[in-house]
Amino acid sequence: MSNKTQIDLTKVPKHIAIIMDGNGRWAKVHNQPRVFGHSKGVVSVRDVVEGAGEIGVKHLTLYAFSTENWKRPKLEVSALMQLLVNTISKETDSLNKNNVKLTAIGDLKSLPSSCYSELNKAIEKTSANTGLNLILALSYSAKWELTEAIKQIAKDVQNNTLPVNDITESIINNYLNTKDIPEPELLIRTSGEHRISNFLLWQIAYSELYFSDKLWPDYRKEDLFEAIIDYQKRERRFGLTSEQLTS
Ligand code: IPE
Ligand code: IPE
Ligand code: MG
Repeated sequence: MSNKTQIDLTKVPKHIAIIMDGNGRWAKVHNQPRVFGHSKGVVSVRDVVEGAGEIGVKHLTLYAFSTENWKRPKLEVSALMQLLVNTISKETDSLNKNNVKLTAIGDLKSLPSSCYSELNKAIEKTSANTGLNLILALSYSAKWELTEAIKQIAKDVQNNTLPVNDITESIINNYLNTKDIPEPELLIRTSGEHRISNFLLWQIAYSELYFSDKLWPDYRKEDLFEAIIDYQKRERRFGLTSEQLTS
């Protein structure tokens, strides 16, 4: 029986973010080139997106390529970009069938033009969908995002459209790539690594962290459900005492 039945559907996180890690090690275990691991990872993406939709997750952010990943061997980077182009165009119909709206965060203009245009096409074609909001983090890093936000805030202060004393946490939120998305309640990283790797630093200030030892190509919706079941057992105190929360 699926572990899905153990999930309290009234307390499903609205936003889950996932650091999809371990494709290269998965390929190594299977005596294959790293790129093979990346293409197997697409199967996991499909399954996890489906699972998230089934239980009513509203936003799912997937860390697919970091600004640091540009420093990988040229061949791996170009294979990843090609995989992205092919996958995005191939999956658009199925996203529409499942009412999934695709969006993206990151330095998208730094993507190869074929990738950028395929992405924009898919974003456009799925823009009317009202189900799961699937957010791809591409050429993304939190420090990049924060630097861009700070530059823009400084410009707006300089041209007198933003008084310094008006700057609040919620104003800062509006300058981020994630401005229309609530903060993730749950952040998952696969592959047994326990680090954030420059992902959503501001937005995960109070996220629950969950680490899975599974390599991303082995990760399935059942694993996502397991993470949510674990999340639902936690007490999120936000600095308060347990007694304050229960009274
Ligand atoms: C995650 O898998 C995918 C990307 C970062 C693009 P990795 O490629 O990092 O796989 P490992 O961590 O080397 O196993
Ligand atoms: C983080 O994985 C980035 C993505 C999953 C896209 P990495 O494999 O690049 O992170 P490090 O190098 O292990 O920190
Ligand atoms: Mg990795």
